[in-house]
Amino acid sequence: MTVILPENPAKADLLAGNPTLWLNDQLRPDGISDPGLPIRPGQVISSEASWRRLAPLLERLFPETSGTGGQIRSDLVEAQTLKGAIGYCSAEYGRVFIKADGSLPVAGSIKARGGLFEVFMHAEALAMQHGLLAEGGDVMTLAGTEAMSLFQRHTIAVGSTGNLGLSVGIAARALGFRAVVHMSSDAKRWKVDRLTNLGVEVVQHEADYTTAVEEARALAEGDPSIYFVDDERSQLLFLGYSAAARELAGQLDEAGIIVDHDHPLFVYLPCGIGGAPGGVAYGLKAIFGDAAHCFFVEPVQSPCALVHMMSGSAELVSVYDVGLTNRTEADGMAVARMSDFVAQVMGPMLSGVFTVADEDLFRWLYLAHSSQGIRLEPSAAAGFAGPEFTVNSPQGRAYQTSQGLIGHMANATHIVWTTGGAFVPEEQFQQFLERGEALTTAAG
Ligand SMILES: Cc1ncc(COP(=O)(O)O)c(C=O)c1O
Repeated sequence: MTVILPENPAKADLLAGNPTLWLNDQLRPDGISDPGLPIRPGQVISSEASWRRLAPLLERLFPETSGTGGQIRSDLVEAQTLKGAIGYCSAEYGRVFIKADGSLPVAGSIKARGGLFEVFMHAEALAMQHGLLAEGGDVMTLAGTEAMSLFQRHTIAVGSTGNLGLSVGIAARALGFRAVVHMSSDAKRWKVDRLTNLGVEVVQHEADYTTAVEEARALAEGDPSIYFVDDERSQLLFLGYSAAARELAGQLDEAGIIVDHDHPLFVYLPCGIGGAPGGVAYGLKAIFGDAAHCFFVEPVQSPCALVHMMSGSAELVSVYDVGLTNRTEADGMAVARMSDFVAQVMGPMLSGVFTVADEDLFRWLYLAHSSQGIRLEPSAAAGFAGPEFTVNSPQGRAYQTSQGLIGHMANATHIVWTTGGAFVPEEQFQQFLERGEALTTAAG
């Protein structure tokens, strides 16, 4: 289908595949209280409690989490040196931080938050159904031999561009489940190899992500022993990600950073289908309300959240419908059609979406490593465009005016959420660095 987008200051650049910032005109004050939303802030609080309950089990199965008592947490790092390398030194940029989910334990990406959560919550529910665990019982039972032999008779399946498959596959295998990951054609070879080595069955589709998910869902529907982690519809994934907001709030508090109307918090979240950035944004709005300004970021050829939300259509609009290609090196964000569930939830609370060119991802990946030793994959570097767009672009200034932020931007805190990278094999990472260095030198 061909879709004609409404007139908007971002439209010409969007359609030409140039980086741009789109502002969400459905954004409402206190948007999280919209009674029509299919989710409630109380569910975030419950997910935080579930993470706490599961922590001892996670610590047992993943000893790399022993330093945090089984919590899946990442550091908040000020971009001291990197700020200079990227050009965010002047006072108008406030303070710039990196939320280092690229180094999350167990799965090496933000997907550890959603994928692990859904698999462990499913395991708990299955053990209860089979009488192995009572309400309020000891979650360590899930690592015992009886639970293991139950899980061996069940399969967990998921569609993935790579990182969700890694996180679900690792979690499922650790508990003893059979695991099947359906990969889109964008999936990188090393992610497939890593899963295969863990005993995960990988089905490689010669199709894009949306098609891989559809085919995987159809297979699961015909077989009751398969539990399908549905990236397009899952509330559990979304809630797993949402608990990251409380973690960030604690880190900001420890750093003595105030967040209120006069000290705004800007957060830049790489977006594929929307679950990870949507969950984190929802959690942040639940804590900080209108003082948190959340933006998604997408590749110039795969801006699925931008085109759908800009279209105002009740039917999902894909990037193909407006003539874009969905071709990008940022495999985690190579998604043509966003989640309908996330689109509904983000409607009244997302500030906007901006797009980035692949070349810039490689430049930022190189600068993050050379200036602060941070290891990223291309998707994970996308948020670095955020401060420039919100502080200095015409649309960014229009946003500041509409939100009453003029005069407060020097007090702002910008969070660039870096979402993956720790697991990239050394040889591949060196190739990323070489490409980034060449592009940085060429840009002068
Ligand atoms: C590194 C990275 N960043 C961001 C995302 C986007 O997450 P979502 O597809 O939930 O929007 C992904 C998805 O796989 C990813 O791998």
